[in-house]
Amino acid sequence: MAAKLYQLLTLLSLVIPLTQSEPSTSSPLFLSVTDFGAVGDGLHYDTAAIQSTIDACNHSPCHVTFPPGRYLTATIRLRSGVVLEIEKNATVLGGTKLDDYPPEMDRWYVILAENATDVGITGGGTVDGQGLSFVERFDERKNVMVSWNRTGACYGDECRPRLVGFIGCSNVWVSNVSLIEPAYWCLHIVGCENTSIQDVLIYGDFNTPNNDGIDLEDSNNTIITRCHIDTGDDAICPKTYNGPLHNLTATDCWIRTKSSAIKFGSASSFNFKGLVFDNITIVDSHRGLGFQIRDGGNVSDVTFSNINISTRYYDPSWWGRAEPIYMTSCPRDSTSREGSISDVLFINITANSENGVFLSGSKHGLLTNIRFINMNFTYNRWTNYSGGLVDYRPGCQGLVKHSTAGIIMENMKGFDVENVSMWWSDDHGRRQWNNPLDFRPSTVNGISLINFHSDSYQQQEKATQKLSFNSS
Ligand SMILES: *[C@@H]1O[C@H](CO)[C@@H](O)[C@H](O)[C@H]1NC(C)=O
Ligand SMILES: *[C@@H]1O[C@H](CO)[C@@H](O)[C@H](O)[C@H]1NC(C)=O
Ligand SMILES: *[C@@H]1O[C@H](CO)[C@@H](O)[C@H](O)[C@H]1NC(C)=O
Ligand SMILES: *[C@@H]1O[C@H](CO)[C@@H](O)[C@H](O)[C@H]1NC(C)=O
Ligand SMILES: *[C@@H]1O[C@H](CO)[C@@H](O)[C@H](O)[C@H]1NC(C)=O
Ligand SMILES: *[C@@H]1O[C@H](CO)[C@@H](O)[C@H](O)[C@H]1NC(C)=O
Ligand SMILES: *[C@@H]1O[C@H](CO)[C@@H](O)[C@H](O)[C@H]1NC(C)=O
Ligand SMILES: *[C@@H]1O[C@H](CO)[C@@H](O)[C@H](O)[C@H]1NC(C)=O
Ligand SMILES: *[C@@H]1O[C@H](CO)[C@@H](O)[C@H](O)[C@H]1NC(C)=O
Ligand SMILES: *[C@@H]1O[C@H](CO)[C@@H](O)[C@H](O)[C@H]1NC(C)=O
Ligand SMILES: *[C@@H]1O[C@H](CO)[C@@H](O)[C@H](O)[C@H]1NC(C)=O
Ligand SMILES: *[C@@H]1O[C@H](CO)[C@@H](O)[C@H](O)[C@H]1NC(C)=O
Repeated sequence: MAAKLYQLLTLLSLVIPLTQSEPSTSSPLFLSVTDFGAVGDGLHYDTAAIQSTIDACNHSPCHVTFPPGRYLTATIRLRSGVVLEIEKNATVLGGTKLDDYPPEMDRWYVILAENATDVGITGGGTVDGQGLSFVERFDERKNVMVSWNRTGACYGDECRPRLVGFIGCSNVWVSNVSLIEPAYWCLHIVGCENTSIQDVLIYGDFNTPNNDGIDLEDSNNTIITRCHIDTGDDAICPKTYNGPLHNLTATDCWIRTKSSAIKFGSASSFNFKGLVFDNITIVDSHRGLGFQIRDGGNVSDVTFSNINISTRYYDPSWWGRAEPIYMTSCPRDSTSREGSISDVLFINITANSENGVFLSGSKHGLLTNIRFINMNFTYNRWTNYSGGLVDYRPGCQGLVKHSTAGIIMENMKGFDVENVSMWWSDDHGRRQWNNPLDFRPSTVNGISLINFHSDSYQQQEKATQKLSFNSS
């Protein structure tokens, strides 16, 4: 397998030069949790047995194996050189009691690696957070969740454990594993370097708030490939709290979410630089490619290529307004700084959506040098949710009434549009939003439109109402 991974990384390095080391090549030590007393019946806690197995590793790499079974556990901590090999038909089952987790809320994970190198999870099995046990009331709009705010350390409904966390680690491998039903965020990478996430299936309840897919914080040199994410909240979510985030590549993924498929922020105190998203399918999501820059960090050098998007409205209590592309940069509140977003390329993108594109910078946080190349937008309505709002959440101006348009722009400098078509459905919904481009020249400068078409959907062959012009 190492040879195969190495080939893949070599291939990827042609796309973006990423420095990723392959796992140590010395042959691993294998230790089975059952040899250390784990019963795997899903009823008795196997925490002590699993932790003893990990602690018995005196050789790197050390594969801690889980044969088929269900291993109920409180938080387990990985150490350098340890790879959890959860076999097919084996499930690591997270506990559902507050006592199952460490006292500090920011260490609430089922599996946690901290300051470790050469660590990972693999094997074809499953890690299950039993998230449904954390639902206090099921609601198709949005589930009401249990809160563990007993210590007052966290905000009301966000007091739930995450599933898997790597904090301050390097050379992290998460591959060939299913991560399902997290109570809160699913896979959390914080302050790490050299992380590879591949062939990972993430499944979370569609109505559970905050069950994000992959949250990447303050981390450099990350590769995500062949992931399948079907979950309620943001699917791939780079954030910056305490340091910058450089070099993230995500390719060959499938995503469905009730929030954003890809979202920058909203935590954005430091810069984001060098991100590539390629060959991604986004279906039935509330928002496709999103930026919520709120805290003064700047975003630059980002490419989105070969992406098909379908976005629709869901209940407005979820962030998102069916936008295929959403770029906002505004100060979260009166104490926040403004960050800018620059040098972002969108190429080879098709979207079928219930709302248009929203591009909104702020006075000192402009969107600069944004390029749309080879894009095909099909605009249609198929749900009954009402439109006519633009979404500046979180913070900023909140939800604001504004008629819908193909692309709304404000506070931009440099926007190149080339080979871009918009196809408008002829149904009644069209009356609401038959405005291809909405901008005021006073805040938007340097627009170039080359081979730009806007046309009605049914009449595209006749190519009536064709709009095609250059300006700047
Ligand atoms: C990001 O990748 C670029 C190009 O390979 C490299 O020059 C740079 O050092 C990397 N940044 C970090 C923080 O590793
Ligand atoms: C990350 O990988 C690169 C290339 O293999 C290596 O030079 C670097 O030391 C690694 N970083 C850490 C913190 O291990
Ligand atoms: C996994 O479980 C399925 C269904 O019970 C069974 O058919 C299969 O042989 C099992 N595979 C392994 C590797 O245990
Ligand atoms: C990890 O490293 C950080 C920074 O050096 C330190 O604050 C933290 O206590 C360490 N955690 C563990 C579990 O060693
Ligand atoms: C995933 O693990 C299973 C066995 O647990 C193996 O049969 C399969 O080949 C692995 N898949 C990949 C992509 O490595
Ligand atoms: C969290 O708990 C603290 C202490 O019990 C309490 O003061 C606070 O109001 C709670 N906050 C929320 C949002 O539930
Ligand atoms: C990521 O790279 C940046 C730029 O080199 C550096 O400032 C930061 O400390 C790195 N972060 C980590 C987690 O290594
Ligand atoms: C795109 O990703 C899919 C998996 O989602 C994969 O099957 C396909 O081969 C990839 N296409 C290319 C051109 O890499
Ligand atoms: C996007 O759709 C086109 C046309 O159906 C298809 O050829 C292409 O493979 C799709 N790409 C992705 C990433 O879904
Ligand atoms: C963002 O860019 C502005 C303007 O160049 C700069 O003043 C600010 O320090 C940058 N923010 C960060 C977090 O580096
Ligand atoms: C965009 O699509 C064209 C035609 O399918 C292809 O030749 C080109 O390589 C693609 N560009 C990127 C950046 O993937
Ligand atoms: C663009 O979208 C229209 C309407 O959905 C579709 O008929 C057409 O085939 C698409 N064109 C390309 C090049 O994908």
